[in-house]
Amino acid sequence: MFYIGVDLGTSSVKLLLMDGSGKIEKIVSREYPIAFPHPGWSEQSPQDWWKETKAGICELTEGFDKSQVAGISFGGQMHGLVILDKEDQVIRPAILWNDGRTQKQTDYLNNSVGKDKLSAYTANIAFAGFTAPKILWVKENEPENFQRIAKIMLPKDYIAYCLTGVHSSDYSDASGMLLMDVKNKCWSRKMMEICDVKEEQLPKLYESYEITGTLKPEVAEELGLPKACIVTAGAGDNAAAAVGTGTVGNEKCNISLGTSGTIFISSNDFCVDKFNALHAFAHADGHYHLMGCMLSAASCNKWWMDEIIRTKDYGAEQKGIEKLGENHVFFLPYLMGERSPHNNPNARGTFTGLTMDSTREDMTQAVLEGVAFAIRDSLEVARAQGLHIERATICGGGAKSPLWKKMIANILNIKVDVIKSEEGPALGGAMLAAVACGEYKSVEEAAKAIVKVVDTVEPDMELVEKYEKKYRTFAEIYPALKPVFDKIAEA
Ligand code: XUL
Repeated sequence: MFYIGVDLGTSSVKLLLMDGSGKIEKIVSREYPIAFPHPGWSEQSPQDWWKETKAGICELTEGFDKSQVAGISFGGQMHGLVILDKEDQVIRPAILWNDGRTQKQTDYLNNSVGKDKLSAYTANIAFAGFTAPKILWVKENEPENFQRIAKIMLPKDYIAYCLTGVHSSDYSDASGMLLMDVKNKCWSRKMMEICDVKEEQLPKLYESYEITGTLKPEVAEELGLPKACIVTAGAGDNAAAAVGTGTVGNEKCNISLGTSGTIFISSNDFCVDKFNALHAFAHADGHYHLMGCMLSAASCNKWWMDEIIRTKDYGAEQKGIEKLGENHVFFLPYLMGERSPHNNPNARGTFTGLTMDSTREDMTQAVLEGVAFAIRDSLEVARAQGLHIERATICGGGAKSPLWKKMIANILNIKVDVIKSEEGPALGGAMLAAVACGEYKSVEEAAKAIVKVVDTVEPDMELVEKYEKKYRTFAEIYPALKPVFDKIAEA
């Protein structure tokens, strides 16, 4: 039997075909545009996601016996607001996870409703990218659109809806809406009242590996797949990546260097960071996790390479970087504002420490190091909670760079386990479908059987010490510049 994992990302949809033993048969990816209608806003068309996902499934299964495709599941970009009217038409473009337009609504939730109450209702506080502040933004700024809302869904749930006609979501992804009581895994009545949302507008909730439906007959025909092909609820991309990297069970850690950068810590029991600096969400394995999320990670390097120095040869640019721990140039990676731990949509990117002898290599190095330092900021929050993280797996586009992995190992002072496939969310999605079809008894069992560590990057104590000093300097730059960022935002 074959299983399809769909990773509905921010720059592209990646699709992976896996057999029952966990062997990856094929991977394809298809890009779609992203719009930035204002500085700090970001939107995408759900119809583009669907069009490219369908084309991707056809391309993926070409040359394979399609009758053997038994299940489909997902990892999806989290927090995005997708709204449909009663005719199932998309009302407006999706407002994405890295959109910072909701400062006013976020402040209202955190300050007027109050962080204590939000944390009691949902286990989290409001961050600009979360879904609830976006619903309030639509209510305030687009009242006609708000009145038309029949269904509220997350990005991957729109794809599941197009495939099956079932309005569903899973606990891991729904945790990031700030509408779900994470501990008790149900919608929060209080949050629905605060956001003026009714339960019938929200999806039915499932565990990530639970079957929500089968393909609609017309969709099965169009894709050439069996009508009996099941679809499971899937997961937010970070929880799906955690499945695909074996980050299941207690106190395991995965770092993802995708458009966003995340540090994900799995936990068998429900847990909350007492300052709510880390997100306390449900996991796709049926348990829970803590997560820090920076809004621009591999996307900082992509911006620097593609838009500024204009090259496609990322490897060649990194070849000249040799003096680790000695760079006098620093980069703040806040190109879309920042989530964890600063929670400030007005934060901005900046280079500091430039001199006449600074080189292109120094600046490229600073971009990669800036992302690693910012991930360390979230790791420090977890360490302050008493969590001992000694090693982590790594996935996402940035994980393909040996240099970046070395920086992560030394800046965070952890062992970085490299796994056979870095296709975190897409592989995790396929694994969730395989669990649903009975190939494995549980997500944990699937992870044990499928995920293999092939190498480990060990921290080098000399570099760790050098980077410790650099990190201390990095940590002073944001607080010093924060008032300047606020002024820039006011202008
Ligand atoms: C997690 C988050 C991002 C997106 C990226 O909270 O916002 O990692 O899921 O796709």
